[in-house]
Amino acid sequence: MKNIVIGSDHAGVELKSFLKDFLQSAGYSVSDIGTFSKESCDYPDVAQTLANNIKENPNNLGILICGTGIGMSIAVNRFNFIRGAVLYNNEVAKLAREHNDANVAILGARMFSKDENLEFLKTFLSSDFSNEERHKKRITKLS
Ligand code: RB5
Repeated sequence: MKNIVIGSDHAGVELKSFLKDFLQSAGYSVSDIGTFSKESCDYPDVAQTLANNIKENPNNLGILICGTGIGMSIAVNRFNFIRGAVLYNNEVAKLAREHNDANVAILGARMFSKDENLEFLKTFLSSDFSNEERHKKRITKLS
């Protein structure tokens, strides 16, 4: 089972706790990089911390949460070893792993309920990269 590193800004802090409880009870090793309160903070800082973690531990999977998922997506995809995917339904969650080998799941805490976001995340975590040549070639071109 992969190690998971999870982070959010203030808009995602409640969803982060909810998902972390689920992940730990499911047996995942979870590293929480914050934020830890509802006090306003800046999503690029959290995204940078998570990217640093994945740079040092390339097998880790990341989860980032903000209000929409968009800020975290823009911020974390600036790093060329990150393939971050905003999850907005179960099919996207599955294809993000199978086609894009996404290594960071990005969620919008204000766009979906906690249970909906949990379902997207479960689908993401239970899916694997297809390893098909056409997808490998495209991913190689990204970096
Ligand atoms: C915070 O208010 C909000 O702007 C942030 O969580 C995120 O949605 C930005 O993309």
